[in-house]
Amino acid sequence: MSELDRIREEFHTRLGEAVASGSREAEEAVREVRHDFLGRQRGRLTAYLKKVKDLPEQERRTAGARANQIKQEIEGALEAAEATLARRPAADHRAIDITLPGTATRPGCVHPLAIVRREIEEIFLEMGYTVEEGPETETDFNNFTALNIPPDHPARDMQDTFYLEGGGLLRTHTSPAQIRTMMKTRPPLKIICPGRAFRRDAADATHSPIFHQVEGLAVDAGIGLADLKGTLLEMGRRLFGQRVRVRLRPSYFPFVEPGAEFDVSCFLCDGAGCRTCKRSGWIEMGGAGMVHPAVFDGVGYDSDLYTGFAFGCGIDRIAMVKFGIEDIRLLFENDLRFLEQFRGAS
Ligand code: DAH
Repeated sequence: MSELDRIREEFHTRLGEAVASGSREAEEAVREVRHDFLGRQRGRLTAYLKKVKDLPEQERRTAGARANQIKQEIEGALEAAEATLARRPAADHRAIDITLPGTATRPGCVHPLAIVRREIEEIFLEMGYTVEEGPETETDFNNFTALNIPPDHPARDMQDTFYLEGGGLLRTHTSPAQIRTMMKTRPPLKIICPGRAFRRDAADATHSPIFHQVEGLAVDAGIGLADLKGTLLEMGRRLFGQRVRVRLRPSYFPFVEPGAEFDVSCFLCDGAGCRTCKRSGWIEMGGAGMVHPAVFDGVGYDSDLYTGFAFGCGIDRIAMVKFGIEDIRLLFENDLRFLEQFRGAS
């Protein structure tokens, strides 16, 4: 591109910007553009015209003629802009140049954890549950004592819990939401509580000091273990496909009796054993059980009249197996190159 063409192009860009600025500044800006291009001392085009004089005869003619042509074009454009601005009503403080290219906005997409959380919420809302959200900072009572976790239980170890100055703590699981809900509601109730939980774990591919869980609780007269299993099966099938099965393995959590860990059959290999299920055919989902009578007693529910089940599982883990994410830290780094792969997955 010749110098002259460059001057011309820059002029039009500058003039376009000047006119598009607020009307009071626009006039000033146009004046500045005039000065910068046609000013006697330092105008870009004036300077160019001066240089043309020193060119050899033949070149001078063509360059001179072209420069004058552009000078006229610039004069014309400046006058037109000045006239438009002079006619513009004072209230019109912003002119939009519809010929300028627009600014493209990149639409966001849903985070994989949010995709799974929303899916779980939908499953349970359809079954008549309500969604409760407990706070992330909790009392020792709600996080431990009321859940029948005795003072010497290893979960209370400083290793695991972030204690706050002044006595509170960061909840180590979503289970205290059970306590909060039961304290303020009478049975029957069916709730889930999705949210963040915190533990003093060093971060690696499968651990993060911040992680996500969803807690479930159903209390009514006559609720039994079969209701729990049926509910977990429904969740498993909706999340991973109609073919999956659910199994409960006896386990111990102080706030349930009997307590269990529950798995779903691997949706990828159908239970045959593959990389995702670590050759076991099963994918660990979380813990569950029948609410311990001591928990009911603590919140003032009559444990002779009511029974209930509870479960808790990791949203991060579900997202990881569902989407084949091999490192939990990816869920927290907010690297757009990672997150954009989930566009359309929700
Ligand atoms: N709160 C337990 C944890 O974080 C998980 C859990 C186990 C929740 C059994 C429950 C349950 O509601 O019944 O490890």
